[in-house]
Amino acid sequence: MEDDAFKKWAAAYGRFRQEGRALAYPSETLVRLFKGDYIPDMTRDLSGKSVLEVGVGNGNNAVFLASLGLDVCGTEVQQEICDSTSSLFDELGCQGNFQVGVNRDLPFEDSQFDFLVSWNVLHYEDNEADIEAGIREYARVMKPGGRLFLSTTGPEHKILENSESLGPHRYRIGRDDDFRKGQVFFYFDDADSLSFFFGKVFKDVMVGRVHDRLFTATFDCLIVTAVKP
Ligand SMILES: C[S@@+](CC[C@H](N)C(=O)[O-])C[C@H]1O[C@@H](n2cnc3c(N)ncnc32)[C@H](O)[C@@H]1O
Repeated sequence: MEDDAFKKWAAAYGRFRQEGRALAYPSETLVRLFKGDYIPDMTRDLSGKSVLEVGVGNGNNAVFLASLGLDVCGTEVQQEICDSTSSLFDELGCQGNFQVGVNRDLPFEDSQFDFLVSWNVLHYEDNEADIEAGIREYARVMKPGGRLFLSTTGPEHKILENSESLGPHRYRIGRDDDFRKGQVFFYFDDADSLSFFFGKVFKDVMVGRVHDRLFTATFDCLIVTAVKP
């Protein structure tokens, strides 16, 4: 089942590229979090520091992270996606290391990264135990004192339209126009539940929210930053 979902992602990225719909810009929120003044004690000196982006997709955020002088590693669920993101990095003259990996099993050693970015990726786990395993795996590969940046679906996000609630935090995607229709995701629903789950493993957990209504679609994301103890 998971394998099918992963193949669908590889096919979707191929389609997006062919149709010229591949995201070509980083998340504005991520740019603001790295460059702006929103987080007490956020380091300004990034050179020589390392970042892992889990679920790096077509590299739209990773190119920005490389532009900050960070050493960039990324994971994706299929080799094909890693290869295509590596090619983009080569074309742009950026350095990056992209490997197959998933939330609960990252192909890196303990305590390796100064930053970990997970941008709309953790909620692909479909139950509480797997969510907790994913959060622990993120912490495992981060250095003590390393900072996590995470985005996940908020309660008004368009992906939840026509979804079926399967009990606490679990939803079956119901949008006819989405290739993920039928898959079950775990959504945290509110800031308190994010603080609860991340507070078990991380310290200094802060939760924010970004809500955009772009004429025909609502994007509602809950944002977390936290530090590995
Ligand atoms: C909504 S996309 C976000 C991509 C990228 N982070 C961005 O912001 O553009 C979700 C990504 O998560 C990846 N993914 C799906 N299931 C995953 C899992 N179990 N573990 C890690 N990544 C997963 C998908 O292949 C996809 O690239």
